[in-house]
Amino acid sequence: MKKTILLLAVLWSLLPAQSLDGKKVFETYCWGCHHQSAVAFGPSFTQIASKRTFEEIEAYILDPKAMYKAFGHQRSVMPKLDLNDNERACIARYILSFKKDH
Ligand code: HEC
Repeated sequence: MKKTILLLAVLWSLLPAQSLDGKKVFETYCWGCHHQSAVAFGPSFTQIASKRTFEEIEAYILDPKAMYKAFGHQRSVMPKLDLNDNERACIARYILSFKKDH
């Protein structure tokens, strides 16, 4: 029993490091609709990074329905995803890492 608790404590301490990984957030929540460089159901991260700021990306994830018109989309298909602040910041930074000109 003690060992189980110890093991859980160790696993728990590893969790924050993982949730700080933008690639992991991408694979968990975005993959399938967005790909890194190829256009899938939604625009690619390369495309998004070329025209949006960190704040814009965060705002879109927070509330796609409120943002899609301002971003020039005809439809609002992307669902509102339940990411925490950390995950949202990580994925926004990850998307911006696909910006070509730097
Ligand atoms: C069910 C499919 C789906 C999922 C899951 C999804 N998206 Fe989207 N996303 C879209 C589509 C389609 C669009 C195009 C506009 C629309 O329909 O809302 C879009 C648009 C966007 C935009 C705005 C693009 C622009 O620059 O105009 C951002 C930013 C974005 N998605 C980020 C994400 C992130 C980050 C995740 C994962 C945390 C994610 N999306 C998950 C389908 C999805």
